[in-house]
Amino acid sequence: MNWWLKKFLYRLAHLIMGVVIKRIKVPEPELLTGVGSIKKLPAQLKKSNVRRILIVTDKGISGLGLTSGLIGALENMGIFVTVFDSVQANPTIQNIEDGLEIYSRSRCEGIIAFGGGSPIDCAKLIGARVSNPERSSLQMRGGFKIPKKLPPLYAVPTTAGTGSECTLAAVVTDPENREKFSVASSRIVPLSATLDPELMTSLPPHITAHTGMDALTHAVEAYIGKIGTPYTDSQAEKAVKIIFEDLETVFKDGKDLQRRSNMALASYCAGLAFTRALVGYVHAIAHNLGGLYGTPHGKANAIVLPYILEFSREACQLRLARLAVVAGLGDGSEPKNELSFRFIEKIKVMNVDMCIPSKVDELKKEDIPLIAQRALREGNPGYPVPKLMNQRDCENILMRLLP
Ligand SMILES: NC(=O)c1ccc[n+]([C@@H]2O[C@H](COP(=O)([O-])OP(=O)(O)OC[C@H]3O[C@@H](n4cnc5c(N)ncnc54)[C@H](O)[C@@H]3O)[C@@H](O)[C@H]2O)c1
Ligand SMILES: [Fe+2]
Repeated sequence: MNWWLKKFLYRLAHLIMGVVIKRIKVPEPELLTGVGSIKKLPAQLKKSNVRRILIVTDKGISGLGLTSGLIGALENMGIFVTVFDSVQANPTIQNIEDGLEIYSRSRCEGIIAFGGGSPIDCAKLIGARVSNPERSSLQMRGGFKIPKKLPPLYAVPTTAGTGSECTLAAVVTDPENREKFSVASSRIVPLSATLDPELMTSLPPHITAHTGMDALTHAVEAYIGKIGTPYTDSQAEKAVKIIFEDLETVFKDGKDLQRRSNMALASYCAGLAFTRALVGYVHAIAHNLGGLYGTPHGKANAIVLPYILEFSREACQLRLARLAVVAGLGDGSEPKNELSFRFIEKIKVMNVDMCIPSKVDELKKEDIPLIAQRALREGNPGYPVPKLMNQRDCENILMRLLP
């Protein structure tokens, strides 16, 4: 099919997506925030009458003892706790099946997702499989394929981050095809999100940087996309402002509780924005680098973001100029094109300052056609991007990412 006709059809699809998404009621989790807010979580479970709970986390987090205070408090209240801590970064279908088995064996009645996006996404799908055992994770791929309500699900993010604590998405790796896929449903939005900065002070600088840039990418892609609303714009602006003010400081001083708290909120707001306004090609490419090479999600986004912004700049100049002002890079009196360039340049500088490379070391030239093909299958027409890209455009960008 001719590219112009394809473009027309993609834009038509975006128009329909915009109308449909505005009509969907996206639930929002109850928010517990601030130092020590984790202590309020057991009372929530008690309220829902959950007597046996599965904590889904990973070995890094359980090894640091981050879950022990919560486990003690739950047990003191007479709640029986089982821990599943075998979630891998970029969680796999098998992780979900293993968690499901432990949930069933321990006769659990609810789930606490405790960790970064990987444990939270894994927990979402364990919950989805518990209440919809006849559907495999792969059969839930795509939008709105989870017919039955999940058991009570509570999220405790320890990165800031993915925003998964408030989004209707979960991203899973299918190791057989070395591909990541997304599941989207309003049923997987957690009941509550606990943003306790004390759980984030142990994040090493590089993970702080990667996850913070993931949050920035959510906000920016939601903001420059075609289906944003005044609500998603305001959440994205709030996130961008905080990230530009605080991320680099918290990268240098991980113990700064106020800024950790701010970053947790920024990640949450960016989640609220992109769960309605969606993301764009940065994510489409990052997911495929993650699926093929295991590249950490935030790191992949951070590297790819400036390239896609340069590609899209003219089509979203006013929006980028507005973000530059929100980020404190100008007062709005400057020419819009200059502001839009400043915004992109500043992202590059942030990457350099936080030791994030500008190339993808693991990228292989022979994989580029496949990565571009998969990224465009995800992005066209899945993401309402400001400027559409075809196979050649995408391959050209990937060539520039070669080490
Ligand atoms: N569902 C969504 O809406 C959504 C959005 C964006 C990304 N994602 C997915 O989320 C995953 C990435 O999540 P992530 O970036 O949060 O990383 P992650 O969950 O994979 O964690 C990365 C590493 O950080 C460690 N870690 C986490 N918290 C820590 C803490 N407080 N102290 C010390 N170490 C800590 C973990 O042990 C792990 O080794 C990817 O699979 C990505 O595709 C999901
Ligand atoms: Fe992301």
